[in-house]
Amino acid sequence: MRSLLSVLAVTLPVCLAQSATTTCNPLSTPSCPADTALNTNSFSSTWTSSSSLNGWKTTAGSVSFDSSGAEFVINKEGDAPTIQTDFYIFYGYLEVKMRAATGTGIVSSIVMLSDVNDEIDWEFTGGDTTQTQTNYFGKGYTGTYDRAVWFPVASPQTQFHTYAVNWTADAITWIIDGVAVRTLTPDEADGGVHFPQTPMRCRLGIWAGGDPSNPEGTIEWAGGETVFSQAPFTMTVQSVTIQNYSPGSSYLYKDETGDASSVEVENGSGGVFAPSDTPSSSSSSSSSAPQS
Ligand SMILES: *[C@@H]1O[C@H](CO)[C@@H](O)[C@H](O)[C@H]1NC(C)=O
Ligand SMILES: *[C@@H]1O[C@H](CO)[C@@H](O)[C@H](O)[C@H]1NC(C)=O
Repeated sequence: MRSLLSVLAVTLPVCLAQSATTTCNPLSTPSCPADTALNTNSFSSTWTSSSSLNGWKTTAGSVSFDSSGAEFVINKEGDAPTIQTDFYIFYGYLEVKMRAATGTGIVSSIVMLSDVNDEIDWEFTGGDTTQTQTNYFGKGYTGTYDRAVWFPVASPQTQFHTYAVNWTADAITWIIDGVAVRTLTPDEADGGVHFPQTPMRCRLGIWAGGDPSNPEGTIEWAGGETVFSQAPFTMTVQSVTIQNYSPGSSYLYKDETGDASSVEVENGSGGVFAPSDTPSSSSSSSSSAPQS
């Protein structure tokens, strides 16, 4: 039972593990409002020299700044400062230079999350000083147990490293300090059904998986119970770079499949790197053609 709980916790999507999302889910709700797109190819935040959260929305707690970067601090039980981009990207590249938080059970995370709960993650637990976890979910599906994969990284809680995801229609690649460590193709994700393929926001945050009030499996996955008297626990982010491979004004789900082909890029302006099967944009005459 212990190990089953542990497996379940490992495979819990962030939308369930952290907080309920109030986003309209196109899998269950027809005619969700369009998502605001990043209308340029690229976006960046450099928090060693600026404390601007332009382009970001704080969804929990607050972020502070000093010369080493943006600080996400847990001072006490219940703290979970989190920010996410105001905009969505539809295939793209996310690069974050950061130092994870210390603290048993403390989870530092880099997450890309869509309205249908497609998700791509990096996660760091404070007690694990030698590795990081990569994970993904397609349409929030938790039915297979081979998605989480750990990779070695030197002292992520004391050293800054650059963690990136290159997300295209053909593959997702997780990259540490410029070295690709994992590549996932659609075939490996249930023949593509559970391959992340819908517009995502980027989210940075920290939470206490080891909070004693969490389920046993979550605490175990996070590396044990958090001792809040040892706080503060601080995740520090120096910079973020984002590229959008399908810039436009917005993304609109045309049906309830949650598939990439159901998403229309409105006022699409073409990308620096066009994935082989990027959906048609609204400026194209075929955009309203039925899919089947
Ligand atoms: C992302 O992957 C595409 C396709 O392999 C490649 O052309 C592009 O250069 C990659 N981008 C980055 C930033 O690694
Ligand atoms: C597309 O761009 C035009 C001109 O900027 C704007 O008027 C229109 O509202 C945009 N369409 C959508 C669907 O956002």
